[in-house]
Amino acid sequence: MKIKAVRGVKDILPAEAEKWYYIEEKARDIFRKFGYREIRLPIFEETSLFVRSIGETTDIVEKEMYTFKDRKGRSLTLRPEATASLVRAYLEHKIHLQEPLSKLYYMGPMFRSERPQAGRYRQFHQIGTEIIGNANPALDAETILVAASLLRELGLKDLEVQINSLGCGDCRGVYKKELEKYLGGVKERLCANCRERLGRNPLRILDCKAEKCQEYKEKAPPREKYLCGDCGEHFRKVQGYLGQLGIDFIINPHLVRGLDYYTRTAFEIVDKRLGAQNALCGGGRYDGLIEELGGPSLPAVGFSLGLERVALSLSEQKVELPDLSGIDIYLASLGEEAFEKSFELAQALRGKGLVTRLNYEERSLKAQLKSADRLQAKYTVIIGENELKKGVALLRNMEKSTQEEIKLKDLAEKLQSEITPTLPPARSPTRGRS
Ligand code: HAM
Repeated sequence: MKIKAVRGVKDILPAEAEKWYYIEEKARDIFRKFGYREIRLPIFEETSLFVRSIGETTDIVEKEMYTFKDRKGRSLTLRPEATASLVRAYLEHKIHLQEPLSKLYYMGPMFRSERPQAGRYRQFHQIGTEIIGNANPALDAETILVAASLLRELGLKDLEVQINSLGCGDCRGVYKKELEKYLGGVKERLCANCRERLGRNPLRILDCKAEKCQEYKEKAPPREKYLCGDCGEHFRKVQGYLGQLGIDFIINPHLVRGLDYYTRTAFEIVDKRLGAQNALCGGGRYDGLIEELGGPSLPAVGFSLGLERVALSLSEQKVELPDLSGIDIYLASLGEEAFEKSFELAQALRGKGLVTRLNYEERSLKAQLKSADRLQAKYTVIIGENELKKGVALLRNMEKSTQEEIKLKDLAEKLQSEITPTLPPARSPTRGRS
């Protein structure tokens, strides 16, 4: 029996992993500039954490969680998202008593049992940020700025920033009633799923993708009209800050997001080229969640980006990425003694920050040069019996196909000066006290 990967999960092979590395590096750089610090969270949590935070009537909690019982019969769930875990950790470690405003980021796998398709997986990966402790609309705009800057700096173009305001607990109730009244009138024409949702969570209907429901979504009362004074003012200020930051956006009155904890600002950045799963990232404000999870009343805002979707978008838009596959030096050797010399030399070269590979087999020089070529080595160092006797090596510039003889003792320095090392040189080990 051949064992294959489980449906909906995928292996990230080296070429793809290098793309991820590029995205993660850029994200870390930007997050540092904005003063975020990393938090690493567990992959599974008590099930009740997600039920309480994401919401019992959401698709995620109703049908997408990977929930299991451990040996002691406790119900655990593979995290479908990280905001709930982050808030749990924030409260557990009493971070609110240590700093008035926390800016945190995370990266890692999430799990949702959705129907797999392009851009939708059962194990996928997110990079996200959360700011806890302040309700200033400037922070909503800053969160959108961080997300948009990251996508732009990665080289992506023509993305659309969509925003909406979901209001607060008070004005949401008024809107919900209004929406229920309207949708009740067209109930028979909605898809089966939405008919069933109507009594439980009518806001979800605004998120429905079924062809049948689109017309009724369009005609639904706009959320903005039912915002209370404070929420309306907050939303106007977010838009003002976005304008000041030069971020183009559209207001999408149907943007409700798939998680119940949002209040006020909700946003997504989409790449319309990607088809149905076109949201590269999404987020918003969640001012009630910390209290809901047993903490003080603290406002918060954040977003998460889907790595698989961003990687897909980079391919679709044909963004050229730095090539990390090539090496600096290939050491070719002929004979056992020469191999041993090259084995020793490789360590010295790696110590200078040069990415070095060597030949471990008994094979012809031609075959070894072919390997060097395939690995895109910048230089090949050739050592045979003759060279060993003379204390030299042949240094071959692979691009120019030129060759020169060089003393073994000068080799590392020479190569370090010829090549910009791919990696920083190793620190020399400290030998006792100076
Ligand atoms: P979300 O919209 O559920 O939000 O997910 C954020 C992003 O994760 C999506 O825009 C998408 O790129 C990616 N994503 C979601 N599901 C899948 C999937 N099945 N396969 C591939 N990619 C997927 C959240 O998770 C919130 N925690 C965001 C947030 C942070 N809000 C406030 N802070």
